[in-house]
Amino acid sequence: MLTRKDILVFIVGLIVYSVIALIAYNVLPDVASFMAIGAALGILIVLSLVIYRRMNAFQIDVFHKLQQQADDNSRHTESLFSLIALLGPLKRPLPPMRRWAIAPDFATLLVSLLLEHRPRLVVELGTGTSTLVASYCLQHREGKIKSFENDAHFAQQSRESLQEHGLADFAEVIVAPLKPTEINGTSWIWYDVSTMQNLQNIDMLIVDGPELDIRGHHRYPALPVLLSALSENAIVVVDDYKRKGEQEIVEMWLKLMPDFTLEAVENTRGAAVLRRGRRVPPAA
Ligand SMILES: C[S@@+](CC[C@H](N)C(=O)[O-])C[C@H]1O[C@@H](n2cnc3c(N)ncnc32)[C@H](O)[C@@H]1O
Repeated sequence: MLTRKDILVFIVGLIVYSVIALIAYNVLPDVASFMAIGAALGILIVLSLVIYRRMNAFQIDVFHKLQQQADDNSRHTESLFSLIALLGPLKRPLPPMRRWAIAPDFATLLVSLLLEHRPRLVVELGTGTSTLVASYCLQHREGKIKSFENDAHFAQQSRESLQEHGLADFAEVIVAPLKPTEINGTSWIWYDVSTMQNLQNIDMLIVDGPELDIRGHHRYPALPVLLSALSENAIVVVDDYKRKGEQEIVEMWLKLMPDFTLEAVENTRGAAVLRRGRRVPPAA
């Protein structure tokens, strides 16, 4: 669609072209030179139009990105208000969210699911702010979280943070270094499965690690390894569901567990919630 600006640029170009063509006609009256200058000017005008259009598209793209960022920021602010109210009094400030940690809107989703499902055992892959948020929720509800972390440094950081918040009794952070693991003849790099051997009756599984290649399927082993340890009414929560890799992993999982239903949550990074059976909306 041509805009008013496009037409204006075209008219100005045409005027400039005509003026230069007239001058050229007087200075260079032979037809060949006149046509050569005309062709050069024509090319110049077309090139200017192309550059102008590209710059316009770039400007629109930047504008959309800034608008998306502003929308995301206000969504995070709204989520933080709910989160703080739902968690109750905090003993210390929460560690930074976003970047490596979960975003505030994912934290709020997590808390809603914890309140709705009241899990006794939560298993998490990838420790950090999420472990703290979940522990605040579980402390009054007889639940516990076991958080698996491949990096001993981040595991220790998480333990210290739980200690500072007085939540160490509700969470266990287990170091599970990344190792090759074989699933149906394919080799994957995933958490050391020997650290998970005694797991059973997992009511909620949170998949937010390991962090290897954000485009890949490296989080796939979570369900093949832990499916048999899930309880009857277990739910699985996946962060970063906007990523193509995560969407493909969930699709592969659903083939392994056809009795699960997928709910895709449209938050800033996207989340997937998998539950057994049909999704029943909560009572009003
Ligand atoms: C997506 S993060 C997990 C975040 C965690 N669930 C939270 O809410 O903080 C996945 C992995 O990134 C690694 N990680 C955590 N913090 C990091 C940091 N500041 N820099 C680099 N890697 C980090 C840890 O190994 C973690 O398991």
